[in-house]
Amino acid sequence: MAKVESKEKGIPPKAISETEKPKKSQKKTTDSEKPFLKTISGIGPTTRQRLEEAGYGSKESIALATKAQLTEISGIAEKTAALLIREARARFDLGLKKGSEYEASAKTRVKLTTGSQAFDSLLGGGFETGSITELAGENGCGKTQIAHQLAINCVKFLDQDVVWIDTEGTFRFNRIVQIAEAAGMDPDTVLSRITVGRAYNSEHQMALTEEALTMVPNVGLIIVDSLMAHFRSEFAGRGTLAERQQLIGKHLSFISKQAEILNCVGIVTNQVSAKPDAMFFGDPNKPVGGNVVGHTVTSRLMIRKGKAIKRTATLTKSPELPDGKIEFAITGEGVQDYSK
Ligand SMILES: Nc1ncnc2c1ncn2[C@@H]1O[C@H](COP(=O)(O)OP(=O)(O)O)[C@@H](O)[C@H]1O
Ligand SMILES: [Mg+2]
Repeated sequence: MAKVESKEKGIPPKAISETEKPKKSQKKTTDSEKPFLKTISGIGPTTRQRLEEAGYGSKESIALATKAQLTEISGIAEKTAALLIREARARFDLGLKKGSEYEASAKTRVKLTTGSQAFDSLLGGGFETGSITELAGENGCGKTQIAHQLAINCVKFLDQDVVWIDTEGTFRFNRIVQIAEAAGMDPDTVLSRITVGRAYNSEHQMALTEEALTMVPNVGLIIVDSLMAHFRSEFAGRGTLAERQQLIGKHLSFISKQAEILNCVGIVTNQVSAKPDAMFFGDPNKPVGGNVVGHTVTSRLMIRKGKAIKRTATLTKSPELPDGKIEFAITGEGVQDYSK
């Protein structure tokens, strides 16, 4: 378990291991309040523990799992897995719906502001809850800065907690303090609501993500910064590409499902590589990770560095917004509108 240590003075952000578990209520629990697995007859304590340890403790996680996942991870019989999934889906209302019913779920989606009006308008109001948005761009373009700003905005405007999976060691206590103060927030309050998992390899990254998203209550924002760094360095040879892509697909689809279930904003940052065939036209860079990443993220933003504080954001994929490009700024106080 990675424990977050901050060299700077002050209160360190919470490490995942210190995350409070949801408080047990004092009153007698009725069947609908009991943990899902306890309400299914035929699931003994050993099976329950195995499922919980594998991240399948709630009806939400089981409802979106496949039989193969449940049997493979927890070693339970296929018949039991099928029964669990059927029950969880029934109770979680994952059956067929009329188009008109989608309006209700669309209304529960919330937009998380970026801090720049131009940036927000590109995104139809801000980063949407319920799905993953990818921030891609060259080193130093500002992906991690945007993530810091969103963490503060999540606490300020959604009054919800943040899960931050840090794969490159670039989460900065000092930046949270500076940007929080500029936003009129108490930095200690903000820091106490960010749970940071420092991931040292891809396996660790996946495990921390699953642990945080199943343990931390009231998540409004999950950040994986960066998605591909470990996968790229660990799976270097061509022969390992298929395995790598399979793992990334699993990692991303877990985050995507959780973002939908928890109705939280999902952000993954991504590196880019040079497109050999685009020397003269368009953006010479493309996000790494291939089709698996390109298809699994719901929205894709390309960030580019301009002179000094100037940045551009280009929306290149969205299920409901037109592509577009805007200018914004990254300053000591965080993400802002750019004025010439
Ligand atoms: N305290 C600050 N004040 C102003 N700009 C900053 C500050 N910290 C970082 N930046 C800007 O952000 C850039 C780094 O952005 P970062 O988000 O780390 O890039 P990426 O994650 O895309 O590699 C720096 O080069 C600088 O331009
Ligand atoms: Mg970064």
